[in-house]
Amino acid sequence: MSSSPVPVARVRRLSEHVGQTVRVQGWLANRRSSGKLQFLQVRDGSGTVQCVLPKGVVPDEVFKHLDALPVESSLEVDGKVAADPRSPGGYELQVTGVHVVAEAQPFPIGAKEHGPGFLMEHRHLWLRSPRQAATLRIRARIIKSIRDYFDSHDFVCVDAPIFTPNACEGTSTLFEVDYFGDKAYLTQSGQLYGEAAAMALGKIYVFGPTFRAEKSKTRRHLTEFWMVEPEVAWATLDDVMDLAEDYLETIVQDVLRDCRPDLAVLERDVSKLEAIRKPFPRISYTDAVARMNKAGHAFEWGGDFGAPDEEALTKDFDKPVLVHRFPAQVKAFYMKRDPQDDRVALCVDVLAPEGYGEIIGGSERADSLQYLEEQIEKHQLPKAAYEWYLDLRRYGSVPHGGFGMGVERTVAWLTGNHHIRECIPFPRMLYRIYP
Ligand code: 4AD
Ligand code: MG
Repeated sequence: MSSSPVPVARVRRLSEHVGQTVRVQGWLANRRSSGKLQFLQVRDGSGTVQCVLPKGVVPDEVFKHLDALPVESSLEVDGKVAADPRSPGGYELQVTGVHVVAEAQPFPIGAKEHGPGFLMEHRHLWLRSPRQAATLRIRARIIKSIRDYFDSHDFVCVDAPIFTPNACEGTSTLFEVDYFGDKAYLTQSGQLYGEAAAMALGKIYVFGPTFRAEKSKTRRHLTEFWMVEPEVAWATLDDVMDLAEDYLETIVQDVLRDCRPDLAVLERDVSKLEAIRKPFPRISYTDAVARMNKAGHAFEWGGDFGAPDEEALTKDFDKPVLVHRFPAQVKAFYMKRDPQDDRVALCVDVLAPEGYGEIIGGSERADSLQYLEEQIEKHQLPKAAYEWYLDLRRYGSVPHGGFGMGVERTVAWLTGNHHIRECIPFPRMLYRIYP
């Protein structure tokens, strides 16, 4: 049929073709038949359409073949587009011809419940299911929104290297690679390079994959994830918090505006997202600890928050919470100390509501050469690998700051996916590198 003049239409755009005969190219998602009438649900990636086929329209042997066709077989269906409120997308196809392109073998993923191990093993096929496809479409919208936001606020997109000689976020989660006989690491964060670029361009963002050898199995950790990292020369911690707040509100509202059908597939409670409007609560780490203790949640000042602490802290808020000024001892070497209280760093974590936990980590950066040299020594980092970074303090050091937002954690929150593995097409985790 492929040489026929019938125009191809995507399911999402069928409303533009009512009354016309079009061709839909897709996969059989489901089928129902009453002997004389078949209903073929055809999915083309943009949506699913019901194709109505009465006996007699196609030769009898084709009709019989279709009646037993396994799901996920690929096919081209020609038909007249008609509005029908009972059809999944509001339109149906009154079939005039069908061409089976490739009959599928029995599809391993069926209507019955499968465990996550089985589904992960079949991730390449699992992506075809409506929930997974909806999540990926929303992920793509979030990524576009991230770029749109920074591009339209005078930030320059700067790509940081993946192979690096230095650690950014501590040495315990480094992936080491052999670099022509030398040791190199996969980047944990593009931040240090982003700082160099901010000194050249003022406002920049780094956006790319980052890698951490996370040895714990949690619903929030991947070993390969995407991070967007704005970095701004002359920014203080307050500026960093204002930016994070404005930026987050924008991407949530973009998703609400443009992804309603996919949010509906995921049965996401959109009223929770509609509430994500500035201002967001800001609370110091010290006050957060007092608040948790008062609510009966034991936590000692000085430690980093774990998932249960974040949950205890955020359960009374319906917006993201900005927790600032953590103890310097639990944070990275490059953060500036608070001149008002030397025990704490000028940093912020943004905790998403509904138990999704930390989605953003950021700070004002130490701008003193001497302080950074001390910290590099204290953290037992190899100074030679950081000389270039120290140069940024030798040649016109200025206050500056930025943050990093994990794309998958944000996708998990906005789509309401409990586990981060469903928020990236092919997740890499402890014990998971196939497919
Ligand atoms: O808080 P983190 O470690 O901050 C940094 O890497 C800074 N250098 C960023 C910066 O200031 N430019 O990581 C930032 C965010 C976290 O809030 C989280 O959303 C995400 O990255 N993240 C992970 N996401 C998935 N799997 C992991 N293993 C993650 N580790 C961090
Ligand atoms: Mg963090």
